[in-house]
Amino acid sequence: MRIDVVSIFPDYLAPLELSLVGKARREGILDLQVHDLRAWTTDRHRTVDDTPFGGGAGMVMRPDVWGTALDHLLEPSTSSAAPGATTLLIPTPSGAPLTQQDAEELAGRERLIIACGRYEGIDARVAEHYAQRPEVTVREFSLGDYVLNGGEVAALVLVEAVARLLPGVVGNPASLVEESHSTAPGGGLLEYPVYTKPATWRGLAAPDVLLSGHHGKVARWRRDQALRRTAQRRPDLIAGLDQATLDEADRAVLTESGWSGGRHGAVGETTGEGGGPP
Ligand SMILES: C[S@@+](CC[C@H](N)C(=O)[O-])C[C@H]1O[C@@H](n2cnc3c(N)ncnc32)[C@H](O)[C@@H]1O
Repeated sequence: MRIDVVSIFPDYLAPLELSLVGKARREGILDLQVHDLRAWTTDRHRTVDDTPFGGGAGMVMRPDVWGTALDHLLEPSTSSAAPGATTLLIPTPSGAPLTQQDAEELAGRERLIIACGRYEGIDARVAEHYAQRPEVTVREFSLGDYVLNGGEVAALVLVEAVARLLPGVVGNPASLVEESHSTAPGGGLLEYPVYTKPATWRGLAAPDVLLSGHHGKVARWRRDQALRRTAQRRPDLIAGLDQATLDEADRAVLTESGWSGGRHGAVGETTGEGGGPP
């Protein structure tokens, strides 16, 4: 897969040389290139922004500079002209929230370009123009309902979420299946709590069942914990489950944990629901 990230702060993307993403780059699984948007400016001051039409606070990123940059990256030598071959991703708080399903879908794409905005964002005609180009699919995405200073953090998040799904990046692909937000069959829940040695730490014992060596019981315990935790922290995810995927034991756990279509404590409230013995 090829990913290009364009930013006025390319150094911000340095962490993409580290850890699994950095390794994937070195091993040729991921061809990731970071570009300085100012390389495509033509004036002495390397200007990328200007005052907003209609007035108001802040500056807006100029469409002509972005257009030159993106046209260059979309040249036939670096990109396929097949319909939708390139996905142009524009981080913005007004985009659709990024999900694991998006990451899975993007991991199957040939080429991604991430356009990191700054100031008040990128002139809206950039997204409009490239959405009309047959070889490009445009997606404006948000990390969440808050405002960051720039799109670089969103680019880091997106690259990490997508790259770890590429074959060969995560050592044991099985570990991707049981994770929170997995779209695999039986998924869609938050992950169960996890434990390791020592068996007792500061008076807190890891659940006995996990040390029992009984695979069936461990699997059931983990499923129960995932259901309980999701019902408590993210009842919206339970409500969105395909009810046909729930067995009798699942339903019993949900009833016992008080799930009745949304009656729960504050989101993120920690109750230690996973810490005690089964
Ligand atoms: C200060 S923000 C602009 C906010 C914009 N004026 C608004 O209110 O929607 C500058 C840049 O940060 C990035 N950004 C800020 N918040 C974001 C979020 N929640 N998700 C993704 N990108 C975000 C985008 O690239 C955006 O163009």
